[in-house]
Amino acid sequence: MRGKIEALLGAQWGDEGKGRVVDTIASRVDVVARFQGGANAGHTVIAEGEKHVFHLLPSGILFSGKTCIIGNGVVVDPDQLLEELGELQKKHKDRARLIISGAAHVVMPYHKFLDGMEERFRGIGRRIGTTKRGIGPCYVDKISRCGIRVEDLLNEDVLREKLSYNLELKNAILSKVYNEEPLAFGKVFEQAKEWGARLAPFVGDCSLEIEKALQQGKTVLLEGAQGALLDIDHGTYPYVTSSNATIGGGLTGLGIGPSSISNVIGVAKAYCTRVGAGPFPTEAGEETANLLRERGGEYGATTGRPRRCGWLDLVALRYAVRVNGITMLALTKLDVLSGLDKIHVCTSYISDEGKTENFSGSSTFLEKVKPIYEELPGWPEDIGDCRTFESLPKEARMYIEFIEEKVGIPITLIGVGPEREQAIRRGI
Ligand code: IMP
Repeated sequence: MRGKIEALLGAQWGDEGKGRVVDTIASRVDVVARFQGGANAGHTVIAEGEKHVFHLLPSGILFSGKTCIIGNGVVVDPDQLLEELGELQKKHKDRARLIISGAAHVVMPYHKFLDGMEERFRGIGRRIGTTKRGIGPCYVDKISRCGIRVEDLLNEDVLREKLSYNLELKNAILSKVYNEEPLAFGKVFEQAKEWGARLAPFVGDCSLEIEKALQQGKTVLLEGAQGALLDIDHGTYPYVTSSNATIGGGLTGLGIGPSSISNVIGVAKAYCTRVGAGPFPTEAGEETANLLRERGGEYGATTGRPRRCGWLDLVALRYAVRVNGITMLALTKLDVLSGLDKIHVCTSYISDEGKTENFSGSSTFLEKVKPIYEELPGWPEDIGDCRTFESLPKEARMYIEFIEEKVGIPITLIGVGPEREQAIRRGI
């Protein structure tokens, strides 16, 4: 029988805890594939008491015997990737097999530089608050058809030709627009050739690999990075990342069709966070935000920036379910809410134009709305040892059931702590 594809996607502004959910369910899948974004992501996995943060490697990499894929839709920072591989080599004897698409674009040194320059140029008030990992400028080159792909690193002549054109253009921008020193061709070229030599053993055809796995009856998990509300098309533009973090990105970012997708798992935190600028209707006041941040350890895994924190937004969550066709939810970090007297949940928005239950990615719309909250009772108990739904305090169960009812899909995984086994599984 033909295998199937499951997708696991962020349903908020990223940092939902996708890495740990992948880690929880990776044992029952054969292939884990990343399809968009780059080293802007920071997927934290705590396994056997040890913390691993992956920026580029799929979270399934800790499982030997699996295949991990970095798809054509990802932008690859070779230094970062090689560092992550080196770290794993130091810590583990074995790991999953890795395949990198030759068609994935390479984040070059000038992309990172331009990312920083562009943010500076935008100035206070216009800044997006990017991770400065070169993501936007790299995708710009991809769309402008001048980008350098992983396969180009393996061919000296092609690399020389593409890099000289790119450096001519980028150096003109660096010196004439930003008044900065140009980059020397020789240095970048030598570095890129070395990347090519080191990455060559991993380069392959991801679309074909996935097709072969499906023909062998295997299960493929698509691992999204960032989240629906940071999607370049459906997110809160312009305060978004430069890729499609929603389901469509999974198809184009790996070269697969939709007919094998059997399940779309949305990952949401039991509350909301956002890093960087942009509208955030349920952002909490200082006291609650500080409390959630400290309890939830809400500091960026990539940049260390404190995350903005607020209450769960069901208007936004329903939207993420709609644009992705999410069939089930994984709700992470429920334990962070333990000990709160009252929990607020946003069920609709109000503005001068009236009340609405429909989200829109338009930042001008979102800046005008105010959240309407329902107040649910909290629970004082520590829930870190709960492994069944029934063992949760009554109020925690009510919270879960309230979300399920308002969003209209089941919550099949509940995170109750950072460790791999601290999860309640309900048919996932
Ligand atoms: P970029 O992806 O570095 O260009 O950043 C664009 C926006 O997306 C900024 O607001 C970042 O903070 C946000 N962002 C990018 N990656 C992540 C992530 O993995 N988690 C949360 N926010 C992210």
